[in-house]
Amino acid sequence: MDLCSILTSLVSSQTTQDLAKEVRDIFTATEIEKVFFTNSGSDANDTQVKLVWYYNNALGRPNKKKFIARAKSYHGSTLISASLSGLPPLHQQFDLPAPFVLHTDCPHYWRYHLPGETEEEFSTRLANNLENLILKEGPETVAAFIAEPVMGAGGVIPPPATYFEKIQAVVRKYDILFIADEVICGFGRLGTMFGCDKYNIKPDLVSVAKALSSGYMPIGAVLVSPEVSDVIHSQSNKLGNFSHGFTYSGHPVSCAVALEALKIYKERNILEQVNSISPRFQDGLKAFSSSPIIGEIRGTGLILGTEFTDNKLPNDPFPSEWGIGAYFGAQCEKNGMLVRVTGDNILMSPPFIISPDEVDELISKYGKALKATEERVQELKSQQK
Ligand SMILES: Cc1ncc(COP(=O)(O)O)c(C=O)c1O
Repeated sequence: MDLCSILTSLVSSQTTQDLAKEVRDIFTATEIEKVFFTNSGSDANDTQVKLVWYYNNALGRPNKKKFIARAKSYHGSTLISASLSGLPPLHQQFDLPAPFVLHTDCPHYWRYHLPGETEEEFSTRLANNLENLILKEGPETVAAFIAEPVMGAGGVIPPPATYFEKIQAVVRKYDILFIADEVICGFGRLGTMFGCDKYNIKPDLVSVAKALSSGYMPIGAVLVSPEVSDVIHSQSNKLGNFSHGFTYSGHPVSCAVALEALKIYKERNILEQVNSISPRFQDGLKAFSSSPIIGEIRGTGLILGTEFTDNKLPNDPFPSEWGIGAYFGAQCEKNGMLVRVTGDNILMSPPFIISPDEVDELISKYGKALKATEERVQELKSQQK
């Protein structure tokens, strides 16, 4: 048994070992030494915080414990992963975020760029803001930076040009670990195996879940680079064991299903499938961008977000009591299609195996729902007069 590939204090099985090896082999953006299995994306991100704290304690850096995440990020719903998330409803009334978490800018160019600022200039400004935040807090207190390659629940926000290149340079400069939250992007959604491949991210730690088992069984994982795992390994040897794990970490049934999912991705050449279908999906829906009630349609691969705004302006929302996003969602449902509605943002991430005919059907249902929503906005506006 190849015990070296798993980072766990619990009993393991061959299936679990095989999956750890498979995941290690599939992730090629950086070298991965160990894989720690979890039950979900949320507990993967909780595990990240514990690993990073353990790592810095082992290195004799007890003050290097703060985490920087981004406004509008989503990292999960447990105490720690909700703290890392940058969505206010996840914090309000829950006494969150925890004090060790700081949030830096959301990299949404359309909404936040200054007049005349290019995407590259916007990325430079955000990297400078991150650096200033680190300097203000004291680099010796900042342990890690966590980011989704494409932000999902925050509204489907792909990074602006040169963003990750500049952010990574800042993070490295201050010896801060980079954690890639690949829970949505991982295993093909963007047309690359991982978001890290698409945006040239070299993370120290990675969280995965969802498509690891194609969603058929609950399983997530933390992928650990050799630099981090060596430190953790020698510290746990000193202490006698590594005391972090869940009863169902690496559960053989979840692992068997995940192994099968990864095998099917290979057999069906899922990246080729995503890359051949995604232009039809992206271009077909983005053709609706000129709608007077749509501010922006954005996305890449098989993930896409629609944001409704008045006058096509980022800072001109419809009155929230109009419930425009919810109305659009209800119209889609009436036409037999479920979409995710978060306020006036619509999120869509169809299955990797969606066929051309199904994409056309999806576009047609979207178009019908949009027309009905445009009429609804007209009606509400005329009532205001
Ligand atoms: C980027 C990201 N991270 C973490 C999570 C949390 O994963 P889970 O719902 O499996 O706890 C999600 C869930 O949607 C997610 O999108």
